[in-house]
Amino acid sequence: MNRRVVYTRGGPAAGVLTVIEEPEPTPGPGQVLIRTAAIPVHPGDLQAVEAYPEEAAKPVPAGVEATGVLEAIGPGTHVTPGVTVGGRVTVFPQPGAWSQWVVADAGAVVAVPDELSDEVAARMLVNPRTTVMLRREAQEHPAFGYDGLLVQTAAGSSVGRLLTGVSLMHNLALVDVVRSDRGAAELRKRFPGVPVVATEHPGWEDEIRRAADGRPVSVIGPVLVRPW
Ligand SMILES: NC(=O)c1ccc[n+]([C@@H]2O[C@H](COP(=O)([O-])OP(=O)(O)OC[C@H]3O[C@@H](n4cnc5c(N)ncnc54)[C@H](OP(=O)(O)O)[C@@H]3O)[C@@H](O)[C@H]2O)c1
Repeated sequence: MNRRVVYTRGGPAAGVLTVIEEPEPTPGPGQVLIRTAAIPVHPGDLQAVEAYPEEAAKPVPAGVEATGVLEAIGPGTHVTPGVTVGGRVTVFPQPGAWSQWVVADAGAVVAVPDELSDEVAARMLVNPRTTVMLRREAQEHPAFGYDGLLVQTAAGSSVGRLLTGVSLMHNLALVDVVRSDRGAAELRKRFPGVPVVATEHPGWEDEIRRAADGRPVSVIGPVLVRPW
C-alpha cells in the first residue's frame, strides 16, 4: 500500500491535511517509480493548501518536490544521465510529492550526487531554480544596466539567502532588505560585507539610497515591501 498526504478543502494545513492509503502505483511509459526518503515543506506548499478555493470532488495530493530511491523505470522510458534503478534521485515539479511512493515523469527526475544528504537533495530544485529565475529577471531590468544595484526584499527568506549567495558569486551589487534588526543581524553574520537594511525603523529608504550611492536601482524579491 501507499500512504499519501491529501486535502479536500482549503484552510490551515494542520486542520485540513489528512493521510489516505491507496494501492502502490506502477510506472507507465515515460514514467519512473520513486520510494521517497525526504520531502520538503515549502511555505508555498502550505499557501496552496490554505488558498484552495473550494470543496474538492476528490482528494488533492499535496507537495511538489521529493528525494528518494528509484525503484522502477516504465516501459520504453528514457531517463536522464546518472538515473539508475537503486540510485538516489530527486524530482520537481511533482504534484503529490508528499507520498511514500511517487510515479514521476522521467524528464523531471535527476540523479542525486553521493555527497548530498537526502534532506539537502530534497531542497535542491525548487528554491535554486527560483533563485536563477530571480537573478535573470533582475539582470534583464533596464535599471540594472551596467552598474546598477539590486535591492532585494524578504532577503532573509530561503530563496533570498540563495540569491545573496549567487549575487556574491557573480559580483552583482546588492542591498538586502529585511523587516527586523534581528533578521538583519542574522544576515550580516552569514554574508559579511553585504549591506542589509531593516525596515522596522523610519528612514530605511534613505539607508537604501545611501547604499545605492547614486547607482540605478532595480527591486526584486519573493515579497514586495512597497514601491519606492
Ligand atoms: N517558483 C516560485 O514561484 C517560488 C519558489 C519558492 C518560493 N516562492 C515564494 O517565495 C516566498 C519565500 O519563500 P521561502 O521559502 O524562501 O520563505 P521563507 O524562508 O519562509 O521566508 C519568508 C520571508 O518572507 C518575509 N516576509 C513575510 N511577510 C512579509 C511582509 N509582509 N513584508 C516583508 N517580508 C515579509 C519574512 O521576513 P521576516 O524574516 O522578517 O519574518 C521571511 O524572510 C514565498 O512567498 C514562496 O511562496 C516562490
